[in-house]
Amino acid sequence: MRILAIETSCDETGVAVVDDGRRIISNIVASQLAHQDTGGIVPEVAAREHLRVLDGITQQALNEAGVELRAVDAVAATVGPGLVGCLLVGANYGRGLALAAGLPFIGVNHLEGHVYANWLYEGGSPTPEPEIPAVVLIVSGAHSDLVLMEGHRRFRPLGRTIDDAAGEAFDKVARLLGLGFPGGPAVERVARDGDPTAFPLPRAALSGYDFSFSGLKTAVLRLVRALEAKGEVPVADVAASFQKAITEILAEKTARAAAEHAVETVLLGGGVAANLALRVEIQKRIGHPLRVPPPRLCTDNGAMIGAAAFFVLRDRGTEVPVSVRSDMKLA
Ligand code: KG4
Ligand code: ZN
Repeated sequence: MRILAIETSCDETGVAVVDDGRRIISNIVASQLAHQDTGGIVPEVAAREHLRVLDGITQQALNEAGVELRAVDAVAATVGPGLVGCLLVGANYGRGLALAAGLPFIGVNHLEGHVYANWLYEGGSPTPEPEIPAVVLIVSGAHSDLVLMEGHRRFRPLGRTIDDAAGEAFDKVARLLGLGFPGGPAVERVARDGDPTAFPLPRAALSGYDFSFSGLKTAVLRLVRALEAKGEVPVADVAASFQKAITEILAEKTARAAAEHAVETVLLGGGVAANLALRVEIQKRIGHPLRVPPPRLCTDNGAMIGAAAFFVLRDRGTEVPVSVRSDMKLA
């Protein structure tokens, strides 16, 4: 089963060819660096940019895979959650391709994509499939969800953020420290030279598995203003202290969920899962090896949509032309 998969939910245009939900044949991602000027994403600009580059990137993905459209078995695209204008561009383009080639179209939930990125491998021999049940932490620019994966495409929500997403907190702290956009990789880079114990920062003690990051963000803002008033801001130390706090909060609840539900598999997904400090904090607290996709498969890409689409098709056995929904949840 060979799937051509399209991802345009936010500011990455991704197109991939994936075999049997696991093997990446090609995976092209174009990031919209234009946002670096505005320090954030302008939805209309992002949608227009997807429209401008999508056809070329699709051709590139097919060329690199060495296949023609009629040699694939289905076309998939993200239908939510995400920016509605951006979703419409990718979903309508994918639907059009499927219609023209007489192929089934599969609408994919972006969050399922982040989960199924853990099933992907490139070239060579396949990696072992993650075992289910699993506890999954999805941490991206828009989501911080802790879920119990009870079976393929069967997700039980355990907790989520009640305010900012983890990636959003990274992005805001990065902006405060003058580190540019996207903030996560920049914070991680400068934090390497900093002292994570330099500044004590609050860890909101919510009961259950929900997260809250707005108090932490405000504490960093106050800290930076106070340091500015005194003179120079030790950017690396602030970044390292913030990263330590946020990764500890995420790791503590993830490990607790794995212990409470007695699961041996912990999976990560979403852009923030690319963060090495987060992996280290979680691994410290769990008894089994942690599964995390390589960094380029943590951030948005087409291959993860191709992986999730395979399991949708296997499940439903037919075309799934879901309409786009900006607030779609995990099933
Ligand atoms: O999954 P993703 O590419 O897009 C969404 O679905 O939102 O996640 C993007 C988010 C951004 O907030 C970015 O700052 C964050 O992931 N991110 C990171 C790292 N790489 C990307 N955060 C922390 N450390 C990283 N290395
Ligand atoms: Zn994402």
